Amino acid sequence: MALRKILHYPEPLLKKKSEPVTEFNDELRQLAADMAETMYDAPGVGLAAPQVGILKRLIVIDCSASEEPNDLLVAVNPEIVDTEGDSFEEEGCLSVPGFWASVKRAEKATMRYRDVEGNLHERTADGLLGICMQHETDHLEGILFIDRLSPLKRSLFRKKYMKRMKEREQQDEA
Ligand code: NI
Repeated sequence: MALRKILHYPEPLLKKKSEPVTEFNDELRQLAADMAETMYDAPGVGLAAPQVGILKRLIVIDCSASEEPNDLLVAVNPEIVDTEGDSFEEEGCLSVPGFWASVKRAEKATMRYRDVEGNLHERTADGLLGICMQHETDHLEGILFIDRLSPLKRSLFRKKYMKRMKEREQQDEA
């Protein structure tokens, strides 16, 4: 297994749509294992393949926090097939470091997906897992949580974030 580099906004690749996975092979299993390791190392509760530079429809999620045992969900070609209610919870993203904002989502979501062997599953969840499923599936469409903010909040975010990026670059140069 190996850690992969996580891409940060405004990397253009994060805005691209990912391709469906068609082959359930060792390469896919290796990528899923690397992504899980990268997520745990960050640490984060979810990671989508485009965040490590690969435009394939694959996500990993673990919302069990520090609880044991882990509850790793590896979802290939995931699709949100049903939603219910509304929620407005604070979210962050490993590709948008240091920034959190409340995002409007469904309260409960049902995701249809395949495992790395190609078997079909469905999972319904609310709370953090439900939000995470929606957030990670969005990544495969090139949508970041900041894209779901109001135009005003989004422009405030951009100013703040880009300023911080510049400061960090200057620090690195110094
Ligand atoms: Ni994210």
